[in-house]
Amino acid sequence: MPLAYIVAVAGKGGVGKSTISALLVRALAERAKAVVLAIDADPNINLGEKLGAPAGKTIGELREDLLRHADSLQAGASKHETVRYQMALAKVEGQGFDLLTMGRPEGPGCYCYINNILRTFIDEAVDHYPYVIIDNEAGMEHLSRRTTKRMDTLLLVSDPTSLGVRTAIRILALADEMEIKVGRKVLVMNRAERLPEGVMEMVGTAGFDDVVLLPYDDEVDDLISKGRPLTELTNDDPLFRKVMGLAYSLR
Ligand SMILES: Nc1ncnc2c1ncn2[C@@H]1O[C@H](COP(=O)(O)OP(=O)(O)OP(=O)(O)O)[C@@H](O)[C@H]1O
Ligand SMILES: [Mg+2]
Repeated sequence: MPLAYIVAVAGKGGVGKSTISALLVRALAERAKAVVLAIDADPNINLGEKLGAPAGKTIGELREDLLRHADSLQAGASKHETVRYQMALAKVEGQGFDLLTMGRPEGPGCYCYINNILRTFIDEAVDHYPYVIIDNEAGMEHLSRRTTKRMDTLLLVSDPTSLGVRTAIRILALADEMEIKVGRKVLVMNRAERLPEGVMEMVGTAGFDDVVLLPYDDEVDDLISKGRPLTELTNDDPLFRKVMGLAYSLR
């Protein structure tokens, strides 16, 4: 089976990571004519709501359950079977996507063994899909708890301010430092009609492979403020069309 194409979405707080992730899930499912995997890696869970998916069990809850019952889990193959079964419960199916919600990171305790099993299972699950979209929490800490081993495209979302772009550049540097394998690095200027002054120079030296501008969209803002899913957007919505273009620019 060919490896999944993994798109990770990161950036400063509130810049539109989850909005873009949700639209990209739909765009890539349409492009691939197949089910894609959406991963909500923000402990402040909300990708499901934007996708109109019912809430499932989080990987965090699953981890706690497994830890609580660690003693009663039998050794060997059946332990793996239990985790596999539980993982299936954590996967929510929507139209054109499956959703995994990571939930809270681990608390104090001995999680190494369970984390290793979980990671193996996520890595295994990932490659059953043509595309995987990971919506990350704001900031950079999450990179150290990364969900997968590689990112084919890292979308660094920014608002049209130099602070947003500086944060994006910092995350890029951190990914390099942590030796995360990143294929393409794309700066996404959200709610921007044009590049703000001075940004082009910052972008040029920072090592981005591409810059994409996404417009402000009333309809999106309206749906989200009403807690309605972005699946209600029509296909000719201007923001969705741009995201469709972005989806087609990937592998
Ligand atoms: N292109 C856009 N047009 C209109 N509204 C937008 C656009 N992008 C994002 N928004 C709005 O901005 C708000 C924040 O978006 P979103 O939740 O996607 O950001 P985020 O980066 O995921 O935030 P957080 O850091 O809290 O996870 C939402 O209310 C959303 O409606
Ligand atoms: Mg978000």
